[in-house]
Amino acid sequence: MATLDVFGELPDGRTVHCLVLGEAPGPVLHLLELGATVHRLEVTCGDGVRRNVVLGHASPADYLASTDYIGGSIGRYANRIAGGTFPLDGQVVRVGVHDRGNHLHGGPDGFDRRLWEVVEHASSRAVLQLASPDGDQGFPGHLTVRVTVEVTETEVRLTFEATTDAPTVVNLTSHAYFNLDGEGSGTVDEHRLTVLADEYTPVDATGIPLGEHAPVDGTPFDFRAATVVGPAIRTAHEQVVTARGIDHNYVLRGTGPRTAAVLESQRSGIRLELTTDQPGLQVYTGNFLDGTRSSVRGAVYRQGDGIALEPQVFPDSPNRPGFPDAVLRPGATYRARLAWRFDTFTNAAPDPG
Ligand code: GLA
Repeated sequence: MATLDVFGELPDGRTVHCLVLGEAPGPVLHLLELGATVHRLEVTCGDGVRRNVVLGHASPADYLASTDYIGGSIGRYANRIAGGTFPLDGQVVRVGVHDRGNHLHGGPDGFDRRLWEVVEHASSRAVLQLASPDGDQGFPGHLTVRVTVEVTETEVRLTFEATTDAPTVVNLTSHAYFNLDGEGSGTVDEHRLTVLADEYTPVDATGIPLGEHAPVDGTPFDFRAATVVGPAIRTAHEQVVTARGIDHNYVLRGTGPRTAAVLESQRSGIRLELTTDQPGLQVYTGNFLDGTRSSVRGAVYRQGDGIALEPQVFPDSPNRPGFPDAVLRPGATYRARLAWRFDTFTNAAPDPG
């Protein structure tokens, strides 16, 4: 049976519902109408314990006050657009700027802050829709956006779709932060990460690509084989220092739906495999979590308490002719798919705590 709980109220009095999808012992996902947000994701780990493996805030007010995009569906343009301006069909478009002089994650009032409409809801599947009017945050064209969320016995699948009535740019993703030892359990330093990419995108001090991609070989960005996260984000590599950790786009190998990353915890004995059809993956090690925002438990999140793996086109693509095309035109449908597949390991060490 489809479950719809009241999560809380927005300042204007509108109710935010929470949809519960899936069934134990498989993944159970709590999805909010606010931001089409992945609020809670419970999985059974290799040690038999069920854990919530994503970060979340406790109330709508906490989500609105946060600048961390925790769990949100991000749009219209995930990641940054330099100076909040880009050319489109000979015109200069100006969009909202709120991150060190750049556009970030859809602008000051991005899709993660909107109340989405539930258009379908069954026990393991939901469709949420959002209308983004022409001029929203500066973007041209009326955009109709949908996210379809499906939960199977082992997987959570998100499909983002959008159509427009005028040319625009679109880059939609999920900003879920994972902690496979359980939300609120500390940092992800001991998690092992694999990213199936040979190159990453070095950035300037404001997160804008410098130009060429760089090989990960011989750098702390090399996750081609499973590598512990903590040491990499404590190196003095100039790119790590500037970003306070990893906050970079990886140029994924191949095209079409494929494995992009694997995250695993020896401690809880769970492995997350991320599949996407997107060209890039922003890996963000929670560098700006600074203890000012409360968690679902009422505690606070600190640097490194979660890791976001955000499939997308590359940052600043609308200004980079050599980067993947982010333009959506009338008559075409934008579609981006991701899946999180969970496997347990049998050799999990017992949970010490
Ligand atoms: C993305 C960005 C980061 C940061 C987070 C939210 O991952 O790349 O720089 O803005 O979102 O805090």
